[in-house]
Amino acid sequence: MKVIVCKNYDEMSAKAYEVMKEVLSSKDNAILGLATGSTPIGLYKEMIKDYKAGNVSYKNVSSVNLDEYIGQGVGDEQSYVEFMRNNLFNHVDIDLAKTDLPCGKAEDMQAECDRYNAKLASISVDIQVLGIGGNGHIGFNEPGTPFGSVTHVVDLTERTISDNARFFNSIEEVPTQAISMGIKNVMNAKKILLLASGTNKADAIYATVKGEVTETVPASILQLHPDCYIIVDEAAASKL
Ligand code: F6R
Repeated sequence: MKVIVCKNYDEMSAKAYEVMKEVLSSKDNAILGLATGSTPIGLYKEMIKDYKAGNVSYKNVSSVNLDEYIGQGVGDEQSYVEFMRNNLFNHVDIDLAKTDLPCGKAEDMQAECDRYNAKLASISVDIQVLGIGGNGHIGFNEPGTPFGSVTHVVDLTERTISDNARFFNSIEEVPTQAISMGIKNVMNAKKILLLASGTNKADAIYATVKGEVTETVPASILQLHPDCYIIVDEAAASKL
């Protein structure tokens, strides 16, 4: 693990983009693994800024995302697919047909998990962006998820539901389930870029970097990944 501590959120985002840009510069058809949530928004802003400056193109780039809420999909305001369009895809020249997220509105969720797993097995993600839950989750793999897991439907924990309530009018509106890449899918990426900001992530970052590798802290598996960056601000690093 390469742990990089930055002064604040903006520096964390700029440093994250340095790692992302190396990948984008090394091949024009990179496959990106992307995340939603508040943490990667600064990285996506850097990606958009550099695209607008004419330094990088996403024409041949494709992407997969970690997860989606059950019941949410294209056109739904709170869906992760709309989040990705609003915060990145609509501002660069990526072909939307080359972007993929698990669909939370599929009639047969097991079939959707199978489709996504088959897709992930057929590609090799060059860089996977991750945020981290206050409880150490990556994707929506909550504590206790087997390290061997692949795309599955998840019951969100109370902590995750209350953490995510800030994006909704009330906690009752927060979906209680999601479809998420499994931990094995995440670990298959060639490079991992986990970002964290704020004191509410400090315990999870400590357990991820310094704790034992245990399914109780899903992100701790990243200690075993051969090319993993943990880029955090001082607040998230405060317990290291
Ligand atoms: C999002 C995801 C989640 C978030 C995590 C942190 O696609 O898979 O694991 O990365 O919940 O969320 P934020 O960044 O909002 O603190």
